[in-house]
Amino acid sequence: MTSTSRLQARGLVRRFGSTTALAGVDVDLADGELLAVMGPSGSGKSTLLHVLAGILPPDSGTVTLEGRDVGRLDERQRSLLRRRSYVFVFQFGQLLDELPAVENVALPAMLQGTSRKDAVAIAAQWLAALGLAGKEQRRPGELSGGEAQRVAVARALITGPAVVFADEPTGALDQQTGHEVMDVLTRTTRAAGASLVLVTHDEQVAAWCDRRLDMRDGRVVTDQVSAAAAQGPAPVAQVTR
Ligand SMILES: Nc1ncnc2c1ncn2[C@@H]1O[C@H](COP(=O)(O)OP(=O)(O)O)[C@@H](O)[C@H]1O
Ligand SMILES: [Mg+2]
Repeated sequence: MTSTSRLQARGLVRRFGSTTALAGVDVDLADGELLAVMGPSGSGKSTLLHVLAGILPPDSGTVTLEGRDVGRLDERQRSLLRRRSYVFVFQFGQLLDELPAVENVALPAMLQGTSRKDAVAIAAQWLAALGLAGKEQRRPGELSGGEAQRVAVARALITGPAVVFADEPTGALDQQTGHEVMDVLTRTTRAAGASLVLVTHDEQVAAWCDRRLDMRDGRVVTDQVSAAAAQGPAPVAQVTR
């Protein structure tokens, strides 16, 4: 690896009753690196994401974010770290239905102490950069699935997180719309300098990332650099921030 490790995991083990969801997993994620996590259903992908993000404690092993051992923090420090450094891109169903798009995007910035006025202005810039100018006041239910996903991407990136996590975020979309959203997510994450851990079943989407892990039965079976981190389809948005 040529750059520093932004996120490092060593020997992660996590059991649920008699099921071993993670059976000793190591991960290194460099600054700005995009990592695809693949593997069959039940192989431990979601568990890995939750443990890396500090949402789920491992039974053993360590997670280090920018040099800090996440497991050694108390709950208050951990939730602070989660809010600052980590973000999940949820399905658009996770957007707040009663809030307009611009307020959904502004919310994480406001929770970090940005004034409402500033947060809304920055959120509007993000929406414009993601091709949603003019749709700021629409509620999630008044947007297409792909548009709502782009709102979720904007919401994930507005706080400038160190690592973005996304768990099969396009499952509910048709393939073309899913590709558009993944293209926006990968390009925007790159432009923002964040690292990305992306669970996907789609080979093409994985090829847009820098590296891919393949999991089976709670283990990483291959960890390989993409031949040439391929570019996605035609750019959907140019992000300047
Ligand atoms: N909260 C849980 N309680 C019990 N078993 C779980 C829980 N979460 C995951 N598992 C089990 O752990 C294994 C890995 O699950 P998961 O990480 O969700 O896999 P994937 O995301 O690759 O489909 C599966 O056998 C699953 O049933
Ligand atoms: Mg899963």
